[in-house]
Amino acid sequence: MRFKKKILCIGAGYVGGPSMAMIAYKCPDYQVTVVDINSARIDAWNSSQLPVFEPGLDNIVKKTRGKNLFFRTDIENQIKENDIIFVSVNTPTKSYGAGANMAADLQYVEKTARQILKFSQSSKIVVEKSTLPVKTALAMEKILSHAKGKIRFEVLSNPEFMAEGTAIGDLENPDRVLIGSRETKCGLKARSRLVDIYTRWIPQDKIITSNIWSSELSKLVANAFLAQRVSSINSISALCEKTDADINEVAKAIGMDRRIGDKFLKAGIGFGGSCFKKDLLNLVYLCNYYGLREVASYWENVIRINEYQRERFINQILHSMFGTLAGKKLSILGFAFKADTSDTRESPALYITQKLMAEQAEIVISDPRALKNAKFDLAGAKGKVSFIEDPYAAAANSHAVIVLTDWDVYRRLDFRRVYRSMIKPAFLFDGRNILDHRKCFSIGFNVYRIGKPALTHI
Ligand code: UDX
Ligand code: UDX
Repeated sequence: MRFKKKILCIGAGYVGGPSMAMIAYKCPDYQVTVVDINSARIDAWNSSQLPVFEPGLDNIVKKTRGKNLFFRTDIENQIKENDIIFVSVNTPTKSYGAGANMAADLQYVEKTARQILKFSQSSKIVVEKSTLPVKTALAMEKILSHAKGKIRFEVLSNPEFMAEGTAIGDLENPDRVLIGSRETKCGLKARSRLVDIYTRWIPQDKIITSNIWSSELSKLVANAFLAQRVSSINSISALCEKTDADINEVAKAIGMDRRIGDKFLKAGIGFGGSCFKKDLLNLVYLCNYYGLREVASYWENVIRINEYQRERFINQILHSMFGTLAGKKLSILGFAFKADTSDTRESPALYITQKLMAEQAEIVISDPRALKNAKFDLAGAKGKVSFIEDPYAAAANSHAVIVLTDWDVYRRLDFRRVYRSMIKPAFLFDGRNILDHRKCFSIGFNVYRIGKPALTHI
């Protein structure tokens, strides 16, 4: 079959894989190819065990793979063959040199731009899908302006707003799609070619266009605002614990104000994931770079509160368990950074586990999907740690059960059975406020939660 359009994505990660699978699914007449330097990852995309767990993704990949969706490693050849190229390589926080621990490390983006330049034999549209500091497109344009002969590149920004765990629904029915371009004749033409792809399944009024810098910055700002809401509610949870107010009741009361809204008001152990902290740090770095110290410090505090919330939770475990965790068995329920994903990047569970291990506790980790990543993350950790998927087996003979991820299965556990199998007094720390606390208390647990007074028998 001759395809109407040929699209390439460089980077087969959490963003590149699902977002391209959705384009292939919605546009059967387009050929969509995803390449990656990591051949093991490409093999996984071509197998029955996809490299990322995402509800509904298997189904979409099954329907498209080998028909109009292809996962490959021949990057050079694919750059030649395609004329719309999405760049979805990782942009971690820089760990070295100037801007270390703050700025985004753009080496992979730059390397990709150079690869595109080297192997292109015709003009192309290059689309930034990765989250990038504002003005990155300028660097890409400068590299790509060295093309030979009549070859021209147009750089667009099309940030991805999907969240893990709900990626398929978010991609199928997004709140908006944002496409930024240069406001030149060529820029606007390239932008309309990208709009054409999304109009295949997204209503026109949800596809918004802007100048390229607004688009780059909007993605950073969206993540910063979302993270800020989590830190705001978490900061108030500390005050609730001092005043006998209940954080859920406060969140409900403020969330019903339409000007505030009810989303992202769940208090817990703080946000994790590959984006929020990285993008906040990046925003702070940018503000400092432009001399905006007050603005930088405002956003920096969103990260501080996140760290504070984790520390508070760890201190609560330590102090309520009589000041010592040495030799005590603690079962961690949930290691993923949120429910419905296997992703553990920046998971609060990793930090909390390491701290509990430093107190010489014996840790058992349970998670329905993330144990493989948990084992990898804790490979070098000193101390006693084991991994058991079955939450009942994990909790047996432990001094405390600690919920760190909001998986639905934990809500439905038989807590009588869990209680019976534990050492007494049995402690329950609900870091996500998802359990029926009164019921657990009546079973016999000493229950500690976020933003509400503890329910204890001691
Ligand atoms: C990444 C960024 O972290 C995020 O900021 C951005 O919005 C989208 O890209 P994610 O898809 O979660 O998010 O990253 P990751 O799962 O690490 O995938 C990136 C992929 O790019 C990896 O598979 C990596 O092997 C690949 N890659 C990296 C290349 O193919 N070429 C490179 O030069 C570098
Ligand atoms: C986020 C953005 O939501 C998404 O738009 C962007 O493209 C990538 O970054 P993601 O990190 O996948 O998505 O998940 P998200 O649902 O935003 O959760 C981030 C973290 O905040 C999780 O650890 C989650 O548990 C926590 N969170 C979220 C809360 O603690 N409380 C809330 O009310 C909401």
